[in-house]
Amino acid sequence: MQVGTVGIATACAVQRLRLSNFRNYDSLALDPAAQVVVLTGANGAGKTNLMEAISFLSPGRGLRRARLRDVLRKEAAADETAGWAVAATVRGPDGPVKLGSSLSRTERGTDKRLARLDGQTVPPSSLSQVIGVQWLTPQMDRLFLEGPSSRRRFLDRLVLGLDPDHGRRVGAYERSLRERAKLLRDGGGDPAWLSALEARMAASGVAVAAARREALARLQRLLSAATGHFPKAGLAIEGRIESWLDDHPAVEVESRFAAMLADSRQHEGAADGPHRSDLTVRHLDKDMPAAQCSTGEQKALLIAVMLANAKAEAERRGAAPILLLDEVAAHLDSERRDALFAEILALGGQAWLSGTDRNLFEPLGGQAQFVTVGRGQANLEG
Ligand SMILES: Nc1ncnc2c1ncn2[C@@H]1O[C@H](COP(=O)(O)OP(=O)(O)OP(=O)(O)O)[C@@H](O)[C@H]1O
Ligand SMILES: [Mg+2]
Repeated sequence: MQVGTVGIATACAVQRLRLSNFRNYDSLALDPAAQVVVLTGANGAGKTNLMEAISFLSPGRGLRRARLRDVLRKEAAADETAGWAVAATVRGPDGPVKLGSSLSRTERGTDKRLARLDGQTVPPSSLSQVIGVQWLTPQMDRLFLEGPSSRRRFLDRLVLGLDPDHGRRVGAYERSLRERAKLLRDGGGDPAWLSALEARMAASGVAVAAARREALARLQRLLSAATGHFPKAGLAIEGRIESWLDDHPAVEVESRFAAMLADSRQHEGAADGPHRSDLTVRHLDKDMPAAQCSTGEQKALLIAVMLANAKAEAERRGAAPILLLDEVAAHLDSERRDALFAEILALGGQAWLSGTDRNLFEPLGGQAQFVTVGRGQANLEG
């Protein structure tokens, strides 16, 4: 079988993957060499787990948003110091890098995620400086029907691909938000201290809102220009701070936000802000909100957004991100499936696809490498 190897400089790709004590994998070694890697296997074989492992090569809690402890292989959990680890050699825009992510457990029972880059321990948030990883999972099928928090996370991951500093900024904002809530719960403390904290919170909050607006404008340009089998999506942010930025300079919004925070102290600190914002998505051809579209149409909208984001990220980074598409093919009709395969190949980044039905991926033929997953192992075919 002829396999399209990842030889172009404009692609992020996992070239070597090692797992230990990760979910159902005791230890796993996989060295893919293709642009498209297809994972097939029965329900419960370990396909999603493998994608989750790759998602830990980026900041955050991985594609399941799991607790670190739940990722540890059950059989290893009895050993109080055992942790899980993902190690990979990934081709990035500047050549191959060694990345790692692991759970370290101290004897006192606290869990910590460690990230490594070329042998050095680094903060997990810095992984997005090196490579991009994006995913679509079956859980995200409910994205337009759920409350705003998962859409906000989805939005912030989109922004992260275009602005690697976004994760650090969101983290800073959320820390000051929590710190302020605690201070207010405990009686408020020193007003000068509280004001300083609110000023910091306003600064990071406005930076978060501004980055979201900028990324969305870039994405919308690509979405509007896209042609093909996926619907045109219209994205907008519903958020007070984001909308203030429509007609006021950032410095002014910052002082207004700080004033709003000071005013809301007496209401137990309940304050509006970027932690309440929502992402709205419309199917433009049908002129309908995504939530009112069919399941398949919602999936197609998500794919359209993800493809546009991957293109935007490829432009910015000079390398298309790694895409993890868990069970995406099964939800599409054959025409859209072929269109997705064509888009993925054209993007140039490495894509991992999964499914129980190998036949769905036959159109990829020699352009994909097939991996059979099962019994705690994953083996390249051929
Ligand atoms: N911490 C853990 N330790 C051991 N096994 C685990 C752990 N967490 C999950 N598993 C098991 O890993 C197995 C594989 O799960 P995974 O979700 O990867 O399957 P899958 O191949 O994606 O299946 P499906 O086709 O149903 O989506 C499951 O049987 C699950 O119970
Ligand atoms: Mg699965």
